[in-house]
Amino acid sequence: MSTGTRETMLDPLKTWKFLVWPTITIKPIDLLVFLLKTILAIFTVASISLFLYFAFSSQPRLLSSPNYSNNPVRTFDHHKSISRNISGQLYERTNLSHIQFGIGGSAKTWNQRRHYCELWWRPNVTRGFVWLDEKPPNDENLPPTSPPYKISQDTSLFKYTCPYGSRSAVRMARIVKESFELGLDNVRWFVMGDDDTVFFLENLVSVLDKYDHNQMYYIGGNSESVEQDVIHSYNMAYGGGGFAISYPLAAELVKVLDGCVDRYSSFYGSDQKVQACMSEIGIPVTKELGFHQVDIRGDPYGLLAAHPLAPLVSLHHLDYVQPIFPGMTQIDSLKKLISAYEKDPSRALQQSFCYDLKRNWSVSVSWGYTLQLYPSLVTAKKLEAAFLTFQSWRTWNNGPFTFNTRPIGKDPCERPVMYFLDRAQRVNGDRTLTTYTRHVEESAKECERPDYAPALAVKVFNVSSARLNPAIWKMAPRRQCCEVINGGDGVGNVVQVKIRDCNRFESVTPP
Ligand SMILES: *[C@@H]1O[C@H](CO)[C@@H](O)[C@H](O)[C@H]1NC(C)=O
Ligand SMILES: *[C@@H]1O[C@H](CO)[C@@H](O)[C@H](O)[C@H]1NC(C)=O
Ligand SMILES: *[C@@H]1O[C@H](CO)[C@@H](O)[C@H](O)[C@H]1NC(C)=O
Ligand SMILES: *[C@@H]1O[C@H](CO)[C@@H](O)[C@H](O)[C@H]1NC(C)=O
Ligand SMILES: *[C@@H]1O[C@H](CO)[C@@H](O)[C@H](O)[C@H]1NC(C)=O
Ligand SMILES: *[C@@H]1O[C@H](CO)[C@@H](O)[C@H](O)[C@H]1NC(C)=O
Repeated sequence: MSTGTRETMLDPLKTWKFLVWPTITIKPIDLLVFLLKTILAIFTVASISLFLYFAFSSQPRLLSSPNYSNNPVRTFDHHKSISRNISGQLYERTNLSHIQFGIGGSAKTWNQRRHYCELWWRPNVTRGFVWLDEKPPNDENLPPTSPPYKISQDTSLFKYTCPYGSRSAVRMARIVKESFELGLDNVRWFVMGDDDTVFFLENLVSVLDKYDHNQMYYIGGNSESVEQDVIHSYNMAYGGGGFAISYPLAAELVKVLDGCVDRYSSFYGSDQKVQACMSEIGIPVTKELGFHQVDIRGDPYGLLAAHPLAPLVSLHHLDYVQPIFPGMTQIDSLKKLISAYEKDPSRALQQSFCYDLKRNWSVSVSWGYTLQLYPSLVTAKKLEAAFLTFQSWRTWNNGPFTFNTRPIGKDPCERPVMYFLDRAQRVNGDRTLTTYTRHVEESAKECERPDYAPALAVKVFNVSSARLNPAIWKMAPRRQCCEVINGGDGVGNVVQVKIRDCNRFESVTPP
């Protein structure tokens, strides 16, 4: 019997004999006939099966080209490994009632900060509390529209040794524990936030619903400013952007939390102390790009106008940045953004790009917020980079950030023509119409180049789109497409844009 590898490779029939029938001797010619017969049999069976499949199957076929992006819901059941029936009722989906909020506040600032909470809190619907250090001043006059408060336990016996921080971090870190110990029914997730965090509830639910609450999850986002992530940690969910802890993880966390608070007494923030504990338990942060710490200074326009392809979950630090709409207070700005958000939560801030090839224009829509018109064909790669309208949090520098930015020139001929949301409406039940009007900064010069003139004449954009099914967030992300409807017709000074699913093989590609 052959033992050498080399010989085996040169004589395949011998190999077969060696592997399959080591003791029986078969003539090579018999083996060859046997092999041919086998191959013929397999081929026949396969042909018949394929014929039957194509003749009688009603399944969508691999070889045809379905518009799979047009009906996202059909495909997303494949995603879950658990079996559930066609109406999806075996599995109780996560909804708002499964979340318990724990908001970090203080008596001194509650009267101002509560206005941020009142933007998203739903009395008798959202569950949870704002945790204060003591009874707030005008306790009796707090409106029923703000979250109810609880007074945190005394923390004076815990250590806090960070020289530049505030001891209140100890109290904040323990909110998740005090929340857990209230023992409310049917809680799947504990969501922590600050008193100046604005949550977008439908999207928060969409995000949490992607994860199995019976497993141990710690979900949130980083700081936008790299300097912060370097100092505090990349492995941490930043507290102001908010983070979610699943019930079984919270159950483990509360057992070790007080020890961590003392052990990591030199850490600045409550979120760091919580993360140190997570690290001991061995649970990394699951990053979701819709949680926004907003660790930036200046104008957040660029950040919001180039939102990543993920649902908008939270905004924070809104007292530290300029109002998001020009000429309005921050609270009124947020009310305006929310008025659009409510019409189509999944689509809020989502970008779409399209070209008008008759006029060589590029349009970038950030749904519910802003629209940019460029009198040239700008690449998608450029359009998806954030305009650098802001600086870093700690050092007020031009970066670096955890995403790419592009400069916004002073020269008006280097800027797009800018539009801001005017109003958002539901139309025909399942569609929306958002209107964006031209914004001119006071004392700002306009570009006088002739190619800018037709663009500058456009005063209004009307953007229509179907409501975005939240189920798309369970699928591979893809930016939606748009088209300029009345391209080149010059119908007054209103341009109509339609946002829709991309067609197969459609891309934002200049000719
Ligand atoms: C795909 O969708 C586009 C636009 O909605 C439509 O024009 C096209 O006919 C569809 N193709 C198929 C194969 O259904
Ligand atoms: C799915 O399951 C639910 C309850 O488990 C049942 O009421 C419903 O009829 C089922 N639907 C289908 C289509 O089987
Ligand atoms: C949320 O889910 C629970 C099941 O855990 C259900 O009883 C409740 O009706 C749901 N609430 C809403 C508002 O859908
Ligand atoms: C909340 O519910 C309570 C009792 O069910 C009711 O008295 C109160 O008016 C409700 N509050 C709001 C703001 O709806
Ligand atoms: C658009 O750009 C292309 C290529 O740069 C050019 O050939 C064409 O004339 C332009 N069309 C208009 C209407 O400006
Ligand atoms: C644009 O939308 C507004 C509503 O915001 C509507 O009144 C107006 O007629 C629309 N214009 C066009 C040209 O469709």
